[in-house]
Amino acid sequence: MTAFIEAASPHTMNTYARLPMAVDHGQGCRVVDVNGKSYLDGLGGIAVNTLGHNHPKLVPALQEQIGKIIHSSNYYHVPNAEVLAKKLTELSGLTNVFFCCTGLEANEAALKLARKFGHDKGIERPEIVVYEKAFHGRSIATLSATGNPKIQKGFEPLVEGFIRVPLNDIEALKKATEGNPNVVAVFFETIQGEGGINPMRVEYLQQLRKLCDERDWLMMIDEVQCGMGRTGKWFAHQWAGIVPDVMPLAKGLGSGVPIGAVVAGPKAANVLQPGNHGTTFGGNQLAMRAGNETIRIMEEEGLLENAATVGAHLKAALQRELGSLPGVKEIRGQGLMLGIELNKPCGALTGRAAEAGLLISVTADSVIRLVPSLILTVAEADEIVAKLTPLVKAILAE
Ligand SMILES: Cc1ncc(COP(=O)(O)O)c(C=O)c1O
Repeated sequence: MTAFIEAASPHTMNTYARLPMAVDHGQGCRVVDVNGKSYLDGLGGIAVNTLGHNHPKLVPALQEQIGKIIHSSNYYHVPNAEVLAKKLTELSGLTNVFFCCTGLEANEAALKLARKFGHDKGIERPEIVVYEKAFHGRSIATLSATGNPKIQKGFEPLVEGFIRVPLNDIEALKKATEGNPNVVAVFFETIQGEGGINPMRVEYLQQLRKLCDERDWLMMIDEVQCGMGRTGKWFAHQWAGIVPDVMPLAKGLGSGVPIGAVVAGPKAANVLQPGNHGTTFGGNQLAMRAGNETIRIMEEEGLLENAATVGAHLKAALQRELGSLPGVKEIRGQGLMLGIELNKPCGALTGRAAEAGLLISVTADSVIRLVPSLILTVAEADEIVAKLTPLVKAILAE
């Protein structure tokens, strides 16, 4: 990695296996490191930078907001929070929103809500159905809901009250919950992100909705990574024509400004009452402006359509170049949330791709993940494929 500076961070905790590089600035779907080397950004800050970098409409709006007020606290109303909440309810078909700052915080609130929903019904030890390979965050409760022993190891005892089931298997779910009166909710990602870009099937989602209605369970869909337009609809579950009861959001909602949200429907919207939950930073003026501007610009620029069409182009091109290689197990995902599963661990590709001027990530050991900004063009999609193809061929040949 001769092109990189020896970037290091001796005084921050050693929690990330970082590449030896540091990004200095960005424009659109490109970033430039502190040495002036340019990269095509196929990662979008891990599905965060919806509008790319330095968007000409977002930046002046945020600058204006910072000059007015950044934060005032939840002792007072924040008019822009109401504007954003209303918009999110219109887009989702739900009714009320709680704002926070991150994905895990949104999920934590959803888990608390589900437990309280149970307690309000007289269930003293509520249980929540969760999934194999799921990722919901790294707080004690959300890592307990996560289906990855590597993330849980060292943090036991885990939070109890989770029932784990495999993806896309309604019979397995029925069996695991048979005769159990304590189940209050089912909690899942429409397309698992960290778990390796694993989609829930449309029929399964519809069966699940029916089951949740029959049994009075909350359907809680973690759209933190797959939501906010990434798959070509506002929320990935909308492809199945279903409406959840609770939907945590974060990542792309603020296009880089930290923000989280729990959007709830009638069954769940009034469960949390004053004193039950809260957060200092949640819903502050800067984050709310970022959320409102992100959605407004997405609508103005047709970014849902762009995610769908450029995503389909990218997937087809990946399929054409890589799909028939013996070591490529599957290319899956939807819109601009794509995964290429190899038949061997390929974590080394993150660094090799950066060296070749492309930012990507590898998740679940052997899945190359592409979650770029929703402004990606067809030409940039082709460039991703051109840069990635020789790297994949090389690692498969080793
Ligand atoms: C589906 C999902 N839920 C929750 C989280 C946690 O979000 P955060 O890192 O903002 O806490 C992530 C992060 O990758 C995620 O992909």
